[in-house]
Amino acid sequence: MATAESTNPTALSAPVARAAAAPSIQVAAPSRREFLYYIWGASIALLLGQASAGLIWFAFPRFKEGEFGGAFAFNPEELPGVGAAPTSVPAGRFHVTQTSEGLRALYGVCTHLGCLPKWVPTNGRFECPCHGSKFQLSGTWIEGPAPRNLDIFIATVTYADGTTVETPAEGGAIPLDADREITSIQIDTGARIIGDLHP
Ligand code: FES
Repeated sequence: MATAESTNPTALSAPVARAAAAPSIQVAAPSRREFLYYIWGASIALLLGQASAGLIWFAFPRFKEGEFGGAFAFNPEELPGVGAAPTSVPAGRFHVTQTSEGLRALYGVCTHLGCLPKWVPTNGRFECPCHGSKFQLSGTWIEGPAPRNLDIFIATVTYADGTTVETPAEGGAIPLDADREITSIQIDTGARIIGDLHP
C-alpha cells in the first residue's frame, strides 16, 4: 500500500530543489599581498620562537655539578697549607692554593695562548710549557709573554657555624679563619674573574 508521503510529488522534489538552488562554493586563491602577509607572519612567529628558546636556554643552568662550567665541591681536607703546593682538580681545570692572603681557585689555563702551566715544586711556581710564562702560587705573573695574572674562579667557603665567605668580586684571595672549622668549599667554574694585567 502506497503511503501519502511516497505518493506526494512535492515531498520528493523539495530537497532536490533546495540543492539545486544552493550557491556553489568557490575558494579564491590568496592574492600576492595576502601571500606576503602569511610569509611575514610566519617569519615573525619563527623569530619569536627562537628568542623564547634562547631565553629558556640561558635561564636554566647548562652544566651539572662536578662538570667544567658548573660548581665543584672541593674537599676541605684537601686544602693545601699556606705556601704548600696547590691541589689540582683536572676535571675543573683549576688549582686551589693557599697563601698568607688566603684561598684562591686559580683557572689552570695560561693567559697567553691557553696552554696549561704546571706547578714546578723545585721552583715553587707555575711554569707554562709553551712559551715560558711563570706565575706565583697566588697566580701573579712573574715573567714571560702572558699579559696578565692567572684568572680566578669564585670560591665559597662555609664554616661550621653556617657563615660563608666568597672570593671578592674584584678578585684576590679569601682570608681564612684558622679558628673555625671549614665544612665545605665550593668552586664555581662558571664564574671567572679575569686576572689583572701586569705593568
Ligand atoms: S701559552 Fe703560556 S706562555 Fe704562551
